[in-house]
Amino acid sequence: MSIPLEISRDLLTQAVDQSNDGITIADARQKDWPLIYANAGFERLTGYPTAEVLGKSCNFLQGEDTLQPEISVLRDALQQGKSCMVTLRNYRRDGSMFWNELSISAIHDEATLTHFIGIQKDVTERVLRDQHLRQSNKDLHALNQQLLTQTKPPADIRNRLYFDDQLHRMLQTAQRTHSLLSVLLINLNQFHLFNDRYGRAAGDACLRMVGERIARSFARASDCVARYDGDEFAVVSMGDSIEGLKQHLQRLRDQIRALNIPHSDSPYGVMSICVSGISLIPQRDTTTSALLKQADTALQNAKKSGSDCEYIVS
Ligand SMILES: Cc1cc2nc3c(=O)[nH]c(=O)nc-3n(C[C@H](O)[C@H](O)[C@H](O)COP(=O)(O)O)c2cc1C
Repeated sequence: MSIPLEISRDLLTQAVDQSNDGITIADARQKDWPLIYANAGFERLTGYPTAEVLGKSCNFLQGEDTLQPEISVLRDALQQGKSCMVTLRNYRRDGSMFWNELSISAIHDEATLTHFIGIQKDVTERVLRDQHLRQSNKDLHALNQQLLTQTKPPADIRNRLYFDDQLHRMLQTAQRTHSLLSVLLINLNQFHLFNDRYGRAAGDACLRMVGERIARSFARASDCVARYDGDEFAVVSMGDSIEGLKQHLQRLRDQIRALNIPHSDSPYGVMSICVSGISLIPQRDTTTSALLKQADTALQNAKKSGSDCEYIVS
């Protein structure tokens, strides 16, 4: 293609120099194809001043990371005098890594190979995003496999109406018999992020698995477990000792993590729960709404402080 007259040599040089990408030219007639030109974009991208790189093969950007399969592809293409494109790990002068999308074009004078032109593009963000996406897909696949192999029958989880009714009855019994009554709220950590990342179907399946685990853990006649709100379960339990209940809750938190439900937005890498609640021997004027309010305050406190457990004894 011919260059229009109004495009001067200076303008072309400026265009090359001000390009965001690195642009390099190597002499294809010399051994190891040494660089004879590097633009300002290359200096910005790699941190190497041009004067330091001229006369050298550009392989210094690979540091010690020279076993990447892409390097063999690149070497083969160069040896055959062909153009090619590879994405490989390179290292700046300060040692920091970036993903380099390197495009090499072979330049011929008549039939003779004279130069290679390299264009270096920093694609780190794109590569990391793709890696993250691939990891999420892997997690989702693992989650699906886990759900498919789950054969145990679902435990009994009631709804909020039933729970409120049971809470009312158990409060009356505890008031009559001066027994210890505990009301707990259990929340799935970062559940909204889980739903956003893995989708609603996976979210529902996760709630089912966690709910069943909680129901198995509180399966006595003096316990009641319900799905209380969105990603929240409520438990009312009568007659356990405070120490016993605390240990029980610690075990439950461990068991939920041991379900190994992949969750890349969680610091544990798997789904975990936050447990909060209140235990007391109720007075005659204690009400169900006061109990639930205290359990909810404990839950909010736990969430605020980033802890997995907030437990009030009064
Ligand atoms: C013009 C040109 C630009 C190059 N740019 C890079 C680069 O940015 N990063 C890199 O890792 N290799 C780059 N290479 C490839 C290396 O310089 C080297 O040729 C390649 O690693 C194979 O040689 P080796 O067997 O010495 O490793 C470039 C090569 C040429 C000819």
